[in-house]
Amino acid sequence: MQPEFIIIHQQVAPHVAHIQLNRPKELNALNLQLMGELRDALKQLDADDTVRVIVLSGNEKAFAAGADIKQMADKTAVDMYNIDQFSTWDAIKKIKKPIIAAVSGFALGGGCELSMLCDMIVASETARFGQPEIKLGVMPGAGGTQRLTRAVGKALAMEMVLSGRFITAQEARQAGLINHVVPVELYLQEAIKLAAATATMSPLALKMAKEAVLKAFDTTLEEGLHFERKNFYLLFASEDQKEGMRAFTEKRAPVFTGK
Ligand code: CAA
Repeated sequence: MQPEFIIIHQQVAPHVAHIQLNRPKELNALNLQLMGELRDALKQLDADDTVRVIVLSGNEKAFAAGADIKQMADKTAVDMYNIDQFSTWDAIKKIKKPIIAAVSGFALGGGCELSMLCDMIVASETARFGQPEIKLGVMPGAGGTQRLTRAVGKALAMEMVLSGRFITAQEARQAGLINHVVPVELYLQEAIKLAAATATMSPLALKMAKEAVLKAFDTTLEEGLHFERKNFYLLFASEDQKEGMRAFTEKRAPVFTGK
């Protein structure tokens, strides 16, 4: 069945797929159906050998303005528990291939959290990041208090979460939340360019390196270093390691196959 709220663009660059959130009238508010479609598309691309890197965008006005407030407004705590909306987020967290968020306009609440679930963020100058849940009488529920704090530190995270203030793309860049800020007409192009450059690397090494960097968020330094070393050694079982190192000595570009 065709998804209703996302568009999948295959091969926007060699080995790069692009998923666009497509609920423009609602500023890409993340309702349950959209998140389910996004999870399914990401899982499908994660299993597709022709894809090495995924770009996730909204549109110029909004990456996503958060979880769908109208869908949640009348729910009880028991409804929320049973609906278990964050199980889709848990599945997205397990995607092995790098995901690059291309953010323009609003990235608020769940939208900000979704961008932080990605591995790199390229933003337009018009991007605004915020966790305004406090204004709705709630708080972030999809990682906003955790990933934001780890990315920007306590002071700014507290201010954003407790006051709901939006920060600009420049501020987000200075705080270390995002990778690049570019003019609005270039944000998607630049994200795809970064994805295309990343996609020239060994797909196996990309997955293991992503896994190791993410490990840094939930383990001790000692265990993280141990994990890193295992992945490093494991890559010596791959043809890509032989090809990469041979190509270096032969002064030519490597041709990685993911084996
Ligand atoms: N949920 C549902 N609908 C939303 C929405 C959301 N998060 N954000 C925007 N919309 C809808 C609006 O209701 C409006 O629909 P109607 O035309 O049918 O009224 C449409 O999108 C356009 O929005 P606005 O008219 O409000 O546009 P604006 O340019 O005046 O304002 C905005 C833009 C500042 C982003 C404003 O829409 C806004 O504040 N949105 C809500 C942001 C928010 O609070 N996000 C957090 C949600 S909770 C959450 O995400 C929990 C979590 O941790 C997972």
